[in-house]
Amino acid sequence: MDDLRHNRSIEDIDRESVFHPATSIADHMARGPTIMSRASGVRITDNHGRTWLDAMAGLWCVNAGYGRRELAEAGAKALTELGFFHSFASMGSEPTARLADKLLQLMRDEAGLKNMARVFFANSGSEANDTAVKLVRYFNNLKGRPAKKKVIARQGGYHGVTVAAGSLTGIPLYHKAFDLPIEGVLHVSCPHHYGFAEPGESEAAFTARLAQELKDLIAREGGETIAAFFAEPVIGTGGVLMPPAGYYEAIVPILREHDILFVADEVICGFGRLGGWFGSGVYGLQPDLLTFAKGVTSGYFPVSGLAVSQGIWDVLAAASPEMGVFAHGFTYSGHPVGGAIGLANLTVLEDEGLPARAAETGAYFKAALDDRLGDHPHVGQIRGQGLILACELVADRATGRRFDPAEGMHRKVSNAAFERGVITRPMPFMPVNAFSPPLIISRAEVDEAVDTYAAALADVFGV
Ligand SMILES: Cc1ncc(COP(=O)(O)O)c(C=O)c1O
Repeated sequence: MDDLRHNRSIEDIDRESVFHPATSIADHMARGPTIMSRASGVRITDNHGRTWLDAMAGLWCVNAGYGRRELAEAGAKALTELGFFHSFASMGSEPTARLADKLLQLMRDEAGLKNMARVFFANSGSEANDTAVKLVRYFNNLKGRPAKKKVIARQGGYHGVTVAAGSLTGIPLYHKAFDLPIEGVLHVSCPHHYGFAEPGESEAAFTARLAQELKDLIAREGGETIAAFFAEPVIGTGGVLMPPAGYYEAIVPILREHDILFVADEVICGFGRLGGWFGSGVYGLQPDLLTFAKGVTSGYFPVSGLAVSQGIWDVLAAASPEMGVFAHGFTYSGHPVGGAIGLANLTVLEDEGLPARAAETGAYFKAALDDRLGDHPHVGQIRGQGLILACELVADRATGRRFDPAEGMHRKVSNAAFERGVITRPMPFMPVNAFSPPLIISRAEVDEAVDTYAAALADVFGV
């Protein structure tokens, strides 16, 4: 009634009541929201019937595509049977136990992570990474190493926004005015050869320089004070940054030498995005902790978590009689509805072979970008692994002159693509447009996304 009387549109109601995450308040007040109503496959439709091809799978997460009945039905059944119960104090539910079991099986069999022993559930990627930060403290306290607490992450890395995860994040925008990072979080250089190599520096030399930087940092701080190193196998939000040649082969032995735990943040890379089930499998990593979220339910329900290696689990289990309760967990950790939707989603990914399909379609997507835009004067580098791809924009391709990210050219290009009906993302750390579509995207839809993106570049640059 009130809405009718005041003739308020849903856009007005949103503007007057919702505090949007990761949004410019000034822009939002000026332009208002886009209200999405329904979606199917790779397409999403707003309340006015306007449709976009979502080349970002929401926020890199709708791996199985939109409108999957299997997921909706699994969720409805679980909601009917057991709408909620918690998993504190040894309580549990069948979907939660089965999801954990399935995740361990996929990690062991599909990514070679034979050493993964248990899964801890949370609700967001940030919570999973916060849990990892707390767990490495807990682990070192149990091991009688109370000084071994600092954690290392990379500039350009993105690990979320909560106080600890936001500190791990190595993107200034997420620290500005929040008094982050907190003490004890150290950042090493961004492992992006195209963006940060010295003139003439080969990938091998760049990798060697980063390895030396890590050694120097550990020597300076003292290995006995450093607990863990956090890395996305491929950096997502930082700009779709692939590790330079030999990077993990150089970094991991340094960490092992100093007994520093390796935490793989697979929040984007997991569940097929890179063309294999997990980024750790794609890059031959053996993390001690593996955090996941997003693609575990294709975003249909907020589930995240953390897989723990046998070595860590053994220390926790041995200390348990003395330590008592492991006093960490969330009300919704191991939510039964999330468990059921996660299981249904993993069944879809598995039955339809979507990780392998991401490898194939990703190669096609990359070739289409190379073909259409390989010579574009403002596209400096086209890169990708599986179905996470990017174009890095430059002021002048010939001289390699960079755009200042503050100029926002990549934002203008994304906006132009949006106007033309394709959703890409302008990234906050580098002048990069990212693509991370549902893994079910067809070749025709890839062509449509690439053609539209090329037209958007022409809208902004005239070429
Ligand atoms: C690699 C990575 N880690 C962590 C997060 C944080 O996840 P959430 O937004 O669910 O807290 C994200 C989100 O984009 C991410 O990409």
